Amino acid sequence: MRLDIVTLFPESFDWFRTQRHVSNALAGGHELRTLDLREHTPLSGGQVDDTPFGGGAGMVLRVDVMDAALRAFYDGTDPVDLRNQRRVIALTPGGRLLDDALVDELAVEPDITLLCGRYEGFDERIVEHFASDAVSIGEYVIAGGELAAMVVSDAVLRKLPGSLGHSESALEESFSTALGGRPEYPHYTRPADYRGWKVPDVLLSGHHEQIRAWRLQRSRERGEAGED
Ligand code: 6GU
Repeated sequence: MRLDIVTLFPESFDWFRTQRHVSNALAGGHELRTLDLREHTPLSGGQVDDTPFGGGAGMVLRVDVMDAALRAFYDGTDPVDLRNQRRVIALTPGGRLLDDALVDELAVEPDITLLCGRYEGFDERIVEHFASDAVSIGEYVIAGGELAAMVVSDAVLRKLPGSLGHSESALEESFSTALGGRPEYPHYTRPADYRGWKVPDVLLSGHHEQIRAWRLQRSRERGEAGED
């Protein structure tokens, strides 16, 4: 996969690249590029955003700035056409809520571009004309699109073969189809008894079938608890 992140803060992804599953994915031939929006702005003084029409707090990323940046990054392709060639995802609180099904959908894409907004976000024309999708990571406020881009990239990259240490680690993860879309079962490690808090006997029994049944049951119970 070639994953491009268009951002005002490319350096904010330095830490992200050092994460094991991310560096594994990169070592395995996948690509993660951070493209600096400010690099190609047509405005003077590196300006990229502006105050919102109609008034209100915060700054809005300008559509002409995003147009110029995408054209420069993608060999002059008009961004209106770019979204027919690759997934171009605007990260915005108003977008489709990210879940495991969407992550699976993205994990099979050859090319993805994530657009990070600014303070109050994007000029809506960016979302309307340049993006193939708008995605939100949840119904709450966060500082900016960079955090959202890391969440999306993390979730997608860990689905790629070879990014996790054990090939089965991703299979039975929370919300996977192997668990019927339910959360993962609980895990325990040594000590088996801590302050009287005992690890369930079945996990110490060595009966793999029983352990498997117990885990599926606990995953189901957690799924039901989360549904109300
Ligand atoms: Cl995708 N971006 C921003 N800036 N805030 C959010 C979000 C995205 N999802 C929830 N809050």
